[in-house]
Amino acid sequence: MAMPKPVDVTETPEWAALQEHFDRLQEEGVSLKRWFADDPGRVASMTFDVEDLRFDLSKNLVTEETLDLLVKLGRAVDLEGRFRSMVRGEHINTTEDRAVLHTALRRPKEQSGSFVVDGQDVVADVHETLASIYDFADKVRSGAWTGVTGRPIETVVNIGIGGSDLGPAMAYEALKVYADAGLTARFVSNIDPNDMAEKTRGLDPETTLFIVVSKTFTTLETITNAREARTWLLDALRDAGAIDGSEDAAKEAVSRHFVAVSTNLELVEEFGIDPKNAFGFWNWVGGRYSVDSAVGTILAVVLGPERFQDFLAGMHAMDHYFAHTPLEENAVALMGLINVWYVDFFKSYSHAVLPYNQYLSRFPAYLQQLTMESNGKSVRWDGTPVDCHTGEVFWGEPGTNGQHAFYQLLHQGTSMIPADFIAFVNTPNPTRDGEQDVQELFLGNFLAQTKALAFGKTADEVRAEGTPEEIVPARVFEGNRPSTSIFGVALTPFSLGELIALYEHITFVEGTVWGIDSYDQWGVELGKQLAKQITPALSESDAALAEQDASTRSLIEFYRENRTW
Ligand code: F6P
Repeated sequence: MAMPKPVDVTETPEWAALQEHFDRLQEEGVSLKRWFADDPGRVASMTFDVEDLRFDLSKNLVTEETLDLLVKLGRAVDLEGRFRSMVRGEHINTTEDRAVLHTALRRPKEQSGSFVVDGQDVVADVHETLASIYDFADKVRSGAWTGVTGRPIETVVNIGIGGSDLGPAMAYEALKVYADAGLTARFVSNIDPNDMAEKTRGLDPETTLFIVVSKTFTTLETITNAREARTWLLDALRDAGAIDGSEDAAKEAVSRHFVAVSTNLELVEEFGIDPKNAFGFWNWVGGRYSVDSAVGTILAVVLGPERFQDFLAGMHAMDHYFAHTPLEENAVALMGLINVWYVDFFKSYSHAVLPYNQYLSRFPAYLQQLTMESNGKSVRWDGTPVDCHTGEVFWGEPGTNGQHAFYQLLHQGTSMIPADFIAFVNTPNPTRDGEQDVQELFLGNFLAQTKALAFGKTADEVRAEGTPEEIVPARVFEGNRPSTSIFGVALTPFSLGELIALYEHITFVEGTVWGIDSYDQWGVELGKQLAKQITPALSESDAALAEQDASTRSLIEFYRENRTW
């Protein structure tokens, strides 16, 4: 079914109403202090509890009227209808003519029945694949699956890049306290030879298992790294006398130490991995939406199938909430709409994500692919140009490290950068420093930062502290720097699943308002093409060198002059 044309959102009366409202707020003066004082119900009406997560939206630069107008904008672009089209399997990824069904990856079997999309029973296929992943995970965890010399696996190395790396790497880091079978994980992604060198350093090949993850199985970085890993494994096993130099021994070793995850099982076999050691997924799962598909196999192995199921359940809970909560009370939809408010009305093109949890240190990097590969687009899904700003820059670092680095700019810089703070009540590592509970010291910082950003400090308050007049201006905090607080009970597989689905849907909301296809990524193709043309010029081909532009040529000449190996 052809997709309806995107609404040109900037031409809608709802957009015009928001612009008028924005202009009025600017005239009246945006003041969180005043809004909090005038409306004692503000926090209650802008706080939403979703399962084990509390969302406090009250420190955003919005009034009840703003939210009302944003919800109307959401309805004008038929947010709810487009989400229904997505989960029904319509081809909302227009430029690749594909369904977008990551939500089907976490639909519980008992609720799903059969669900046929493009002739494929999606639910049956998902659960069949999950069953084989869980079976494999159990074998590795129990020691029934051994390396070629009969020793159980101790380290699992994921080889993949982009969506085939960032999700599993982030989730492993987030959940490693749940890794209870004595297995550790490592992640190789970069084609930079340093990455493979460092990640294989100190590993015992007899107890190492590689999972090669690539949706297409053509990605230069991943296939190069997989070949390197195979060479590393076979050389090390031969050097140690663990296998002989025969083809058969090599084949047997590869079959015990390599498994694959891909939609392209033919290329997996061509690489030399037995297809019975491969887990499939499908074209309707975008790379950056794939951590809950077979791409998460390493998580099922290291954390165990039960934890992986909890992770999927958290994602499904968020899907269910997003799909069944009216926009007015839907924290997820409101977060997406508020982001549009900042991008297109406040002209704020940067968005910080600040996890107050060290285990979430890779979460901002994960979100960068999810949000920026999805919404960094200049044309709508029918090819017409957008006429508003899209796709803000997402970035961040865990608190409190960020406080001692870039928070200066958040508090007193000339640009307004909305921030999402993510914290949890409980820690798996409760500690005291003398009388002081360290988690409370940490959480005190999270709360202090959102408060300082919102309410600031006036010149009079600074003076009252006895500050000399000439440095008063430097010590004033104007406040009104927006933030959302997401406060969870604990970081668990379930709540991590919720957080991932939350940002997937925020990305959907923003993309839908802008009328763009959030599920293609043509912008990464040109660089890949050019790399193929340029690489020969580095060492061999003067003809390839001559074809380059003057700047590229000069950089290659510098390389040729200085290469020392
Ligand atoms: O180059 C971008 C990209 O296509 C991402 O969208 C994807 O996650 C990544 O490359 C890896 O692709 P694959 O899983 O096919 O190796």
